Amino acid sequence: MRLSPLLCLAPLAAAITLDTSSVSSIESATSGVAYDMMTFYTGNQTGQVPGLLPGSLNCNPNVLGTYCWWEAGAMWGALINYWQYTNDTTYNNVTIDALQFQRGPDNNYNPPNQSRSMGVDDQVFWAFSALDAVEANFPEAGGDNPSWLSLAQAVFNFQYDLWDPLTCGGGFRWQVFSFNAGYNLKNSISNGGNFQLAARLAYITGNSSYADWANKVWDWMEASPLLQTDANTGTFYIWDNTDSNDNCTSVQNFVWSYNYGTMLSGAAYMYNYTNGSDLWMNRVETILNSTYSLFFPQQYGGNIMYELECEKSLNCDEDQKSFKAYLARWMAVTSILVPNTAAGIKPKLAASAAGAAGQCDGGDNGRSCGLQWFTQTWDGTTGVGQQMAALSVMGSNLMTESMRPLTLRTGATSKSNPNAGSDAPSNPTANRKPITTADRAGAGILTILMVVIVVGGSAWLVY
Ligand SMILES: *[C@@H]1O[C@H](CO)[C@@H](O)[C@H](O)[C@H]1NC(C)=O
Ligand SMILES: *[C@@H]1O[C@H](CO)[C@@H](O)[C@H](O)[C@H]1NC(C)=O
Ligand SMILES: *[C@@H]1O[C@H](CO)[C@@H](O)[C@H](O)[C@H]1NC(C)=O
Ligand SMILES: *[C@@H]1O[C@H](CO)[C@@H](O)[C@H](O)[C@H]1NC(C)=O
Ligand SMILES: *[C@@H]1O[C@H](CO)[C@@H](O)[C@H](O)[C@H]1NC(C)=O
Ligand SMILES: *[C@@H]1O[C@H](CO)[C@@H](O)[C@H](O)[C@H]1NC(C)=O
Ligand SMILES: *[C@@H]1O[C@H](CO)[C@@H](O)[C@H](O)[C@H]1NC(C)=O
Ligand SMILES: *[C@@H]1O[C@H](CO)[C@@H](O)[C@H](O)[C@H]1NC(C)=O
Ligand SMILES: *[C@@H]1O[C@H](CO)[C@@H](O)[C@H](O)[C@H]1NC(C)=O
Repeated sequence: MRLSPLLCLAPLAAAITLDTSSVSSIESATSGVAYDMMTFYTGNQTGQVPGLLPGSLNCNPNVLGTYCWWEAGAMWGALINYWQYTNDTTYNNVTIDALQFQRGPDNNYNPPNQSRSMGVDDQVFWAFSALDAVEANFPEAGGDNPSWLSLAQAVFNFQYDLWDPLTCGGGFRWQVFSFNAGYNLKNSISNGGNFQLAARLAYITGNSSYADWANKVWDWMEASPLLQTDANTGTFYIWDNTDSNDNCTSVQNFVWSYNYGTMLSGAAYMYNYTNGSDLWMNRVETILNSTYSLFFPQQYGGNIMYELECEKSLNCDEDQKSFKAYLARWMAVTSILVPNTAAGIKPKLAASAAGAAGQCDGGDNGRSCGLQWFTQTWDGTTGVGQQMAALSVMGSNLMTESMRPLTLRTGATSKSNPNAGSDAPSNPTANRKPITTADRAGAGILTILMVVIVVGGSAWLVY
């Protein structure tokens, strides 16, 4: 049975079904899955905060139904992709409102409500969504609102100052502020996320400064214990984090699908930027081969995406339940940017989408999506992460060469501003000092005392 768009609005619609060889079937299925995902969103209701999911003001991903700020940021990107894949504009306005409302006073996705607990990875996911907008010519907000490209550039400028050469020979700490748990850690999603951000800015703008930076981040990660190749099996590991307290000699041996997706697509953008270099081709292939062996286990046929650390036992937290969304999207992007990967990627996206559809027959509405795509029996879970992952993997089957990420030389119209944000290279007097223990004492009231003085278009952060 096929789900018609009309049925999507009915309260007791039938389970989601999917024929991955049919564009209209994928459009219908994604329409239903996106609709159900958005039933979790209340930010556009009176008295609620635009852009946020329930719990985003003070999140704990271990509490069911609590979604952190970064995941909300990622969700808007999934909806931009959805629009690009299907031409359905239903969620465009709510997405534009969300991405602008959360941009913060310096137009760099560092809003005061989130600033205190913001990690480099959290912020970069909002930048990814802005970049999705650039690469698809998603409508700009217009008026005085900053362009999508400038928002991502401002995040780059903000994070540039956070590079920490004092321990481990470099790298980004997970947390921005030293009073947050995890400040000691240098993790793959923060470093890999910044790497991807730089690679995409290089691809979009052609500015070699971004490419130099992407190389620098990759080289540091490669020299650190975060990236390792098992000499026996050849498996390429992207481990979760390493610890600056021991100068990054230890490493946490967890692998997450989104780390592979982040590094994979970053490498794919660099492959393009370098005019198809062997170096980046090899890195793309290396990551992809181990993405297949780790996250598409033979046990389930070898083509169905699987979150290795937590899916089987259903103990993924709310963050982790969304990770497959990003790997799916970034594999689809890679299949376009590095064409000889397409033959390997496409069957995996198709089988995974079919598996995801098989999970979308649960919950009160009879079509909520679970996480265990390897079984057709609904796993009993529902949530934003499950919906987003299903939406992205189904939609990624609609990605064609015509949706190749745009650049400023191939039709992207978003306006570039390399000096965006308060701490851009052109604002030498802006706040660039390292965070010290003195800041730590005052940091608790940072958000309350934060004052932004805007002078001639440049903002100085004073606190
Ligand atoms: C909020 O957005 C959802 C999803 O787009 C939509 O269905 C709903 O009508 C919107 N609510 C308001 C109050 O605008
Ligand atoms: C979306 O619209 C564009 C431009 O009209 C068209 O080329 C494309 O085929 C449409 N895509 C889908 C999936 O309907
Ligand atoms: C989106 O907002 C624009 C400008 O406010 C408005 O013209 C348009 O009708 C809106 N579209 C939808 C689908 O709500
Ligand atoms: C910050 O939180 C306050 C209080 O909940 C809310 O009114 C405001 O809209 C929030 N701003 C952002 C950007 O989330
Ligand atoms: C810390 O690690 C970096 C990078 O490996 C190295 O260059 C540096 O010498 C180390 N510092 C100490 C104190 O061991
Ligand atoms: C890629 O090729 C173009 C055109 O030949 C050239 O201008 C550019 O410098 C090359 N880029 C790199 C990174 O080699
Ligand atoms: C890189 O991407 C651009 C823009 O999408 C495209 O025109 C170019 O052919 C690509 N180059 C390679 C080597 O794939
Ligand atoms: C990736 O796997 C393919 C197929 O097994 C193999 O031909 C290729 O050499 C591998 N590439 C790398 C870089 O490991
Ligand atoms: C290139 O990017 C760097 C880093 O953000 C910036 O300082 C520089 O102004 C940019 N150059 C151009 C020509 O836009």
